[in-house]
Amino acid sequence: MCGIVGYTGDSNATIPLLEGLARLEYRGYDSAGISILADGKITTAKRAGKLAVLVAALKEKSLPNGQVGIGHTRWATHGSPIDRNAHPHLDPDGKVALIHNGIIENYHSLKVALENQGHDFSSDTDSEVVAHLLGAEYSRVNDLTAAMEKVCKQLQGNFSLVAIAVDSPGTLVGARRNSPLVVGLGDGANFLASDVAAFISFTRRALEIGQNQIVTLTASSYSITNFDGEAQNAREFEVTWDASAAEKNGFPHFMAKEIMEQPKALADCLLGRIDEKGQLALNEVRVSDDELRDIEKIIIIGCGSAFHAGMIAKYGIEHWSRIPVEVELASEFRYRDPIITRNTLVLAISQSGETMDTLMALRHAKEQRAKVISICNTHGASIPRESDGVVYTQAGPEIAVASTKAFLTQIVAAYLVGLYLAQVRGIKFVDEVRDILEELDEMPTKIERYLETSERLKELAEEFQSAQSILFLGRHVGYPVALEGALKLKELAYMHAEGFAAGELKHGPIALIEEGTPVLVVMPSPHSPLHDKMLSNVQEIQARGARAIIIASESDLAIADPRAIRIPDAPVLFQPLLAVLPLQLFAYESAVIRGYDVDQPRNLAKSVTVE
Ligand code: AGP
Repeated sequence: MCGIVGYTGDSNATIPLLEGLARLEYRGYDSAGISILADGKITTAKRAGKLAVLVAALKEKSLPNGQVGIGHTRWATHGSPIDRNAHPHLDPDGKVALIHNGIIENYHSLKVALENQGHDFSSDTDSEVVAHLLGAEYSRVNDLTAAMEKVCKQLQGNFSLVAIAVDSPGTLVGARRNSPLVVGLGDGANFLASDVAAFISFTRRALEIGQNQIVTLTASSYSITNFDGEAQNAREFEVTWDASAAEKNGFPHFMAKEIMEQPKALADCLLGRIDEKGQLALNEVRVSDDELRDIEKIIIIGCGSAFHAGMIAKYGIEHWSRIPVEVELASEFRYRDPIITRNTLVLAISQSGETMDTLMALRHAKEQRAKVISICNTHGASIPRESDGVVYTQAGPEIAVASTKAFLTQIVAAYLVGLYLAQVRGIKFVDEVRDILEELDEMPTKIERYLETSERLKELAEEFQSAQSILFLGRHVGYPVALEGALKLKELAYMHAEGFAAGELKHGPIALIEEGTPVLVVMPSPHSPLHDKMLSNVQEIQARGARAIIIASESDLAIADPRAIRIPDAPVLFQPLLAVLPLQLFAYESAVIRGYDVDQPRNLAKSVTVE
């Protein structure tokens, strides 16, 4: 997820562009850049690092005073966050500049075709490929809108694009598919941006751009077409949010926004994972197939939610690849003198890529000659940099301290590693892996369906707000979900909460149950061999007075409780991607009721860079 903004108007474009980027930094902040069209040429400044680095560079050497320009603040998906990978990107002749938010799935084949035509690239990004395509089309048709139409038809994946061209003064052209793009209609100036936060201090008049549409914008006019050049209508609306709410896209907290972003985060995590031969491809794994075939043991390391994601992933990785998997708290790993050989694969899971416990554990594993693949959401962070390979979760920035979309995509990224190992080692045929991926592709829609209908969690949070302690039960892949639900409630509502493997209850914890004890139960899928055992566990705790709230599949007829929380049916190994949602929402509502700082809970940090 990146922040993009375009300006065309009567003032020096650098000023509104920088202000817009500052409002969009929450969408990505590993590099930033601006291009200005002035005096018949495009001048560009771009820097790795936060926007402040670019601002300082512009104080040293300002851009020309031009009235049209584009700006970008990046959350890297392809290519590490260094100057040359920052946007905007230009075509070889410098006639066109372009910014991009999204993931171009077929960029590799497009890049190879352009290289065969003699194109040289200065970056590792998918976006620069689009800039070259646009420059080539523009030089053919000499019309930026028509050129954009031709380019968009060649692209697969998600994109919102904004471009300027030397021979089209005062004009911005934008296009979108699955990534956001909105027009700001000002007085003597117009904007294009990822969201209204970029221009809300200039104008509250906005225009929605629909799917597969192109907008051609000047300071005083706009026109909207589809990718075939046919005129389209657009809905104008008034932005009622203040600037802060706009950064949260209208949500009261980043956590609420990120919970609702999970369908898209998951879809983005799955983007670009199938190669031209229809095989699962993890392009940045950089551990050879032969080395992967020699792996005899996998150790997953992580902290907090990342650790819980690893616990869930263990079930899938072992089931598909038949390689034994241990899951270890990163902070414990190196002190237990783990048995590691050259045939050990360590999977280091970390959203921030800077968690010191995980980084130190990774270093220990490397010293012991293990292969290390990291699963990370932050390009260029220490953990992926020090790993042999990486699978990026592609979830976009996660601002709230409490992990939600990162947690979900960590599970899926680790599952992809398990499927890749099964494919490489011949345990699963390519079509078997593809069948599983097709089931995974259905999950974003199921998650969206649950989130659209989810209610009652606020009521439940109100009902239990004075509880002294809340227990969470799960079995099999539901057990780590129970642990994650308890962690969410602890870190957000500061309540005592504990997750248990339900089979363990009778070995002690059931003594905790008394009249009215709230227990959230993650019911295994009706297809799971543990479903009936969990039914017995529920009866055991209810017989002792527990107030059981059951999270059950829609088709689970064995659960008659009208107050059960229903989630869509899903394969056993994918059920955690749904079962965790009500637990995230329950913890969120519990924090809101208490008036706590949802996005920045006390005592916590988004990235714990100390051991
Ligand atoms: C999760 O809600 C917490 N914020 C915390 O447990 C987090 O998952 C843990 O600190 C690991 O962070 P990382 O993924 O950035 O390494």
